[in-house]
Amino acid sequence: MSTTASTIFFGQDGFRALDQYLVKKQPSKTFVLVDDNTSVCLPTFTSKLTALDVNFEILEIPAGEDSKSLELANQLWLTLLEYGADRNALLINLGGGVVGDLGGFVAATFKRGISFIQVPTSLLAMVDASVGGKTGINIGGLKNQVGTFSEPDLVVVDASFLSSLPQEEWESGHGEMIKHALLTGNDWPEVLNWTSKDDLQKEIQHSVAMKAKVVEADFKESGLRKILNLGHTFGHAWESLMRNTSDSVAHGRAVIQGLHVALVLSQEQELQAELAKRYTWTNVSTDDFEALWHYQMADKKNENAEVQFVLLESIGSPTFSNIVTLEDWSTALLWLNQSTDVE
Ligand SMILES: NC(=O)c1ccc[n+]([C@@H]2O[C@H](COP(=O)([O-])OP(=O)(O)OC[C@H]3O[C@@H](n4cnc5c(N)ncnc54)[C@H](O)[C@@H]3O)[C@@H](O)[C@H]2O)c1
Repeated sequence: MSTTASTIFFGQDGFRALDQYLVKKQPSKTFVLVDDNTSVCLPTFTSKLTALDVNFEILEIPAGEDSKSLELANQLWLTLLEYGADRNALLINLGGGVVGDLGGFVAATFKRGISFIQVPTSLLAMVDASVGGKTGINIGGLKNQVGTFSEPDLVVVDASFLSSLPQEEWESGHGEMIKHALLTGNDWPEVLNWTSKDDLQKEIQHSVAMKAKVVEADFKESGLRKILNLGHTFGHAWESLMRNTSDSVAHGRAVIQGLHVALVLSQEQELQAELAKRYTWTNVSTDDFEALWHYQMADKKNENAEVQFVLLESIGSPTFSNIVTLEDWSTALLWLNQSTDVE
């Protein structure tokens, strides 16, 4: 399976491909970037490779979104310089979306670009962040404002890394898998019922294939790739609101909340009811409507100061750039609130 330039391999095939890659490339120096949680994946990772240079360097960053910063990128560039990294150096990003986005950005810009490999360890990074070549950091409190479209040489997706992933983070990736199932109509409603106890290697492969197909057709997001934002217009607004008012919410849970809104706006109440059986709608106070609308207006994917949603004509048939009015959006939220009250 491949997106534009990079190649995605699964399970044992992935480690075999990486071994072959290392033998062929003979990097001048190999660096493995982890955060202080994903360092737990290092023994498994190294034990599955025979061609990894025993003198590889581990670069460890603090876990969490705050690490996707210019400060951390700068520290990593300087560390690469200190180790004498040249243009044939290799950076392997072993972690979730934060490690992948930051590491990808650092590699894509260091000495105008060195090779990097994505080895995702969170479910979200496996089915979403490591596929499609977007790298980036946050600035001024805004997400992904600086970055590149740069493909890794290889993506190695192995579900065995998920054994140490916290449940909340598992649900985060599950939200994106549910989104992919709604966009394609494949594996629905089975995907909704998967749990972290299931062996998901095959299902992860399906989900990745869906994203890879869309990315291949529209790498720079000028059209079709926008469908991947299903659930994200409201989801991002919900994430921002929760960050500023109370406990933060995991990205994938916010996307699920956004999927509820998108399904009601799509007149897909039956699908929404199915979704609600697994992940209930969290009631939204009418006092927060204004702030949420404001966040949606600020979404960088909007044009002409209008709020745009990805909607479904039916399951498997998404449409993008749909303008949604404040009135229709408020009605959808009130309907969702009331549907939860009735249960
Ligand atoms: N580049 C893209 O196309 C793209 C797409 C979607 C999301 N993203 C980005 O990805 C990030 C979210 O990704 P994420 O949810 O993986 O976040 P993350 O990298 O912060 O990982 C979530 C948490 O799980 C931990 N973790 C990851 N794998 C683990 C494992 N195997 N065992 C134990 N702990 C583990 C991490 O340390 C972290 O605490 C965001 O910054 C988002 O902007 C990028």
